[in-house]
Amino acid sequence: MKAVYFLVAILALTSSIASAYDPSPLQDFCVALNDTKNAVFVNGKLCKDPKVVKAEDFFRHVEPGNTSNPLGAQVTQVFVDQLPGLNTLGISLARIDFAPKGLNPPHTHPRGTEILIVVEGTLYVGFGTSNQDGNRLFTKVLNKGDVFVFPIGLIHFQLNVGYGNAVAIAALSSQNPGTITIANALFKANPSISSEVLTKAFQVDKTIIDYLQKQFWSDNNN
Ligand SMILES: *[C@@H]1O[C@H](CO)[C@@H](O)[C@H](O)[C@H]1NC(C)=O
Ligand SMILES: *[C@@H]1O[C@H](CO)[C@@H](O)[C@H](O)[C@H]1NC(C)=O
Repeated sequence: MKAVYFLVAILALTSSIASAYDPSPLQDFCVALNDTKNAVFVNGKLCKDPKVVKAEDFFRHVEPGNTSNPLGAQVTQVFVDQLPGLNTLGISLARIDFAPKGLNPPHTHPRGTEILIVVEGTLYVGFGTSNQDGNRLFTKVLNKGDVFVFPIGLIHFQLNVGYGNAVAIAALSSQNPGTITIANALFKANPSISSEVLTKAFQVDKTIIDYLQKQFWSDNNN
């Protein structure tokens, strides 16, 4: 009898040690496939043989972004696609350049929290909470040296309210945090979202939706 209790205890212990969980997704979706011939491995990248890894694999030089675009702001991403050494490390970075009045428009990073420091200029920044939390808006005017955090998944923006250019550096808690710019996701969707959906969602008439869908929604991320 004692032996049976012992066995049960061992089983309980090993099963708790063996408990597993799903990995956090590193891309928008990964459709299951049985046949490896047609499969791509995308939840994280394949790993380079450590014997041939070089310092360059962990290095990237970033130039100021070109802010000559309709938004007057440019995000330069240093995610795993730009810096292969970030693979599996759960961290990445972006440099954001702003012309005067430049805007990094409302967007969300579905897979990463963002912490931002202003290194030049003055930014008005903010994020909104979920419906359940009353869609509260938290904003702040940030000057050089000020730091602000945008929690994972929440819609946020940064506007240059200073007289000159502004520069911010953001760190993100994923090697591939993703970016969904709200206006682009709604009005530049490919194929287009039906106007029946958008007119009702925004409670406006079709001419306004047609107008919005005809605009050029630039993507200020590269
Ligand atoms: C994959 O294999 C499983 C087990 O054989 C089967 O149940 C499933 O239907 C297959 N899925 C596809 C997409 O072929
Ligand atoms: C910045 O972008 C504008 C518009 O695309 C382009 O005309 C200009 O040459 C670019 N400037 C630099 C320095 O690349």
